[in-house]
Amino acid sequence: MSAFSERMNQIKKETFVGLGISVGIRLRLFDAMAQMDRPVTATELATKTKCKERYIQQWLGFMACSDIINFEEDDSGEEKFSIPNDRLPHLSTDTGDSNAMWMYGLPILTGVQCQLESCFQKEGPNGIPHESYGGFNEFLDLYGRYGYAEKLIENTLMEVPDVAKQLEGGILMCEIGCGTGFLLQTMAKKYPRSQFLGLDIAARAIDSANKEARENGIKNVQFEVHDAHKLPSDWTEKFNYVFLTDVIHDVPDPKKVLQEIKRVLKPAGTASIQDFPLRRRVADNLKSPSANTGYLVGMFYCIPACMNYGGPGYGPAWGVENWVEVMKDVGFNVKLCMENSAHFVCSK
Ligand SMILES: C[S@@+](CC[C@H](N)C(=O)[O-])C[C@H]1O[C@@H](n2cnc3c(N)ncnc32)[C@H](O)[C@@H]1O
Repeated sequence: MSAFSERMNQIKKETFVGLGISVGIRLRLFDAMAQMDRPVTATELATKTKCKERYIQQWLGFMACSDIINFEEDDSGEEKFSIPNDRLPHLSTDTGDSNAMWMYGLPILTGVQCQLESCFQKEGPNGIPHESYGGFNEFLDLYGRYGYAEKLIENTLMEVPDVAKQLEGGILMCEIGCGTGFLLQTMAKKYPRSQFLGLDIAARAIDSANKEARENGIKNVQFEVHDAHKLPSDWTEKFNYVFLTDVIHDVPDPKKVLQEIKRVLKPAGTASIQDFPLRRRVADNLKSPSANTGYLVGMFYCIPACMNYGGPGYGPAWGVENWVEVMKDVGFNVKLCMENSAHFVCSK
C-alpha cells in the first residue's frame, strides 16, 4: 500500500468516526453516559435518552470499535459501555471545546453538499440561500458563547488599550453582525457606564438577543435589525467604537459596508474588524492552524452564502493583505494585529 493510499484509508476511517461523534454530541448521548456515571447497556442508554434501542446499539458498537468509548462484556455476555473521564470534556458542547462545537455544526455544512456541488458547475446556481443552512445561527451562538467570546473580548481590547479605557469611562459602541448578541451582552455587563447597540440582518437572531438581554436585566444594550450596507442616515459620526467579528468576508459588498462603518464612526473613533488570520498566497497558509477551518467553512458556507446574494464570495481565506488594501482604499488608517486572529484596527 502506498503512503498516500494508507493516508486515504485513515482519512476515510476518521471521517466516519467524526460523523459518529457528531451524532453522539448532537443527541447528547455522551452527556447522558457521563451523567449515568457507570458502564451502561444499550437498553439503559436508550431509556435515558428516549431513543430507539436499535440505533443506540449500533452507535455504541461503532464508538467502541473506533476507540472513542470503553467496552466490557461480563460472563453472561452482557455488553456495557462507558466514557473515560478525561475524554468527556472533548465530547460535549457544554465545556467550550471547539472541536466538539465543530462536530455539532458538521451536518449544517454537509447538509448543503449537493447544492454546493451544483454551485461549482459553470451552469449551476451562484450560491446557496441562508435558509438552506438550518440551525446555523444557533450553531454560531453555541460556538461563540461557550467557545471564545470572553477570550475574544480580552484579546481585542488588549490590542486597542485606549478603547478599553474609554469603555470603562462610558462610550457608545456598535457591533455589526452580532448574531444572537452574546458578545455584546458580556461587554455590557463588564462596562456598565457604556451603551451598546448590536445589529444584524437576521431578525430571528436579533429577537433572541433582545429577549435574553431583557431576561438578564441588562439595561445598557439593545439589538436592532439593520443591513450593514445601508445604516440609518442619522447615524453619521454616532459611535466611538465599532466592532465586527467573522462578518466582513460574508457580506455581498464589503467595500460598501466599510464605507458605512467609516461614516458612522466619530472622527476620533476606532473600528475593530476581526477575521481569519489567513494570507493571500496559499504558500503562506500551508502551515497555518486556521487554514483547515478557514478554507473548508469558506467553501461550504461563506462563499456560497455571499455569492447567492450577488457578492464576490471572498470568504475567510481571501487574505489579510487584500483586506488591508480595501480598508485603505475606503480611507481608513489600518493597523493589523495577527497575534490571535486577524484584527484590523481602523481609524479615520
Ligand atoms: C459568520 S456570522 C458571525 C456572527 C457573530 N459575529 C459571531 O462571531 O458569532 C455572520 C453574521 O453576519 C450577519 N450578516 C450577514 N450579512 C449582513 C448584513 N448585510 N448586515 C448585517 N448583518 C449581516 C449574519 O446574519 C451573521 O449573524
